[in-house]
Amino acid sequence: MIYVTKKIEFSAAHRLFNPELTDKLNDEIFDKCNNYNGHGHNYLLEITVAGNPNPKTGYVIDLKKLKKIIINEIISKVDHKHLNYDVDFLRGIIPSAENLVVSFWKILENKITEGNLYKIRLYETQNSYVEYFGAPIDIPVYDFSK
Ligand code: NI
Repeated sequence: MIYVTKKIEFSAAHRLFNPELTDKLNDEIFDKCNNYNGHGHNYLLEITVAGNPNPKTGYVIDLKKLKKIIINEIISKVDHKHLNYDVDFLRGIIPSAENLVVSFWKILENKITEGNLYKIRLYETQNSYVEYFGAPIDIPVYDFSK
């Protein structure tokens, strides 16, 4: 088994808060990340596909194809956007790095047809990242218009 990874950066804004909690609790839990008008990150997304090399090409997946899938399905929808409000597939989801990787997985797993999606790693800062290997997780959906 070979593991092939593509890294792509994007920039986006978000605000971390739970509309079902009081302002005071949101401040306590999310602190500066609860800034009313949001704040930004330069994210680094790493998508890893696992598989055996195709005997005809030597590729697990053509990295140009993988890049195109990631850009079409994810980057074009989140780059320079406000993740709380601008992205259809994130509607109602608290846009933590944890919830982002789960949401990205749901989209990418069916689009990657050579090899299998193995891991999503998302850096929110240079020193902080989350990793997800696809184990089923339910993410609550909130009403952010409250
Ligand atoms: Ni943040």
